[in-house]
Amino acid sequence: MDDKKDGIISEKAIPLLETRQITKVYGEKIKTQVLHGVDLIIEKKEFVSIIGPSGCGKTTLLNILGTLDNATSGEIIFEGKNLTAMKPDELAAFRNQNLGFIFQFHHLLPEFTAIENVLIPTWIKDKRSGMKHKEHAEYLLETVGLKEYMNKKSTDLSGGQQQRVAIARALINSPQIILADEPTGNLDTESTAQAYELFRKINHELHTTMLIVTHDSELARKSDRIIKMKDGLIEKDCRTGVDECIEY
Ligand SMILES: Nc1ncnc2c1ncn2[C@@H]1O[C@H](COP(=O)(O)OP(=O)(O)OP(=O)(O)O)[C@@H](O)[C@H]1O
Ligand SMILES: [Mg+2]
Repeated sequence: MDDKKDGIISEKAIPLLETRQITKVYGEKIKTQVLHGVDLIIEKKEFVSIIGPSGCGKTTLLNILGTLDNATSGEIIFEGKNLTAMKPDELAAFRNQNLGFIFQFHHLLPEFTAIENVLIPTWIKDKRSGMKHKEHAEYLLETVGLKEYMNKKSTDLSGGQQQRVAIARALINSPQIILADEPTGNLDTESTAQAYELFRKINHELHTTMLIVTHDSELARKSDRIIKMKDGLIEKDCRTGVDECIEY
């Protein structure tokens, strides 16, 4: 392995995201420890699912990885940069530029059209929406199969369509990674399958790293790697098709 050339570490050697001994304790008086020292490395362009029983700490971990919540101790390193040391405004800019979020409930603004919802993160970033953003938003809505719906109000779309708008919105700033928490938890079987195909397409075509928390073992099975959590720790970390990860 020739990771070092002339003393410079090649891009391949730097993981996209790394955690070192992440712990999380909730509560002041009554303390509940939810994460117990999570070590995790996510490589660029990986397609990863996180599974595990309810309450094992999946959302907590994802929120910490996405810098939406602070760890009690431990470090998060993104492309070699320690996020733990960043100031809140620096972190907000970092988040907006590098991370895309998808939640179980899409949180679209009801009075806005599909394309306006997709453009919202660019308003925060650039304070205005230029033509290049609009073209990009149109391209993303086409990618998620909603080009002809782009001027419809989000309330006039089906649940699956609304979630696809949320997926396009998560992609508008060309994030390096999508962090998704139960993105299909609120969808019917067909919309779930469509959303999964879309995640794959995004991963292949846009090279976006995907990290998806899911209860859906069918969806997890289609990932390249499954991380199984239990009681605030990683119990198993396996490659689908290579290791047997899902026994339940
Ligand atoms: N803000 C909070 N304050 C106190 N305890 C919390 C808080 N958020 C989560 N917890 C607790 O931390 C534990 C882990 O919660 P978390 O939401 O990370 O689990 P999860 O694996 O995502 O579960 P699910 O599959 O049900 O979404 C749970 O016992 C939960 O009650
Ligand atoms: Mg959760």
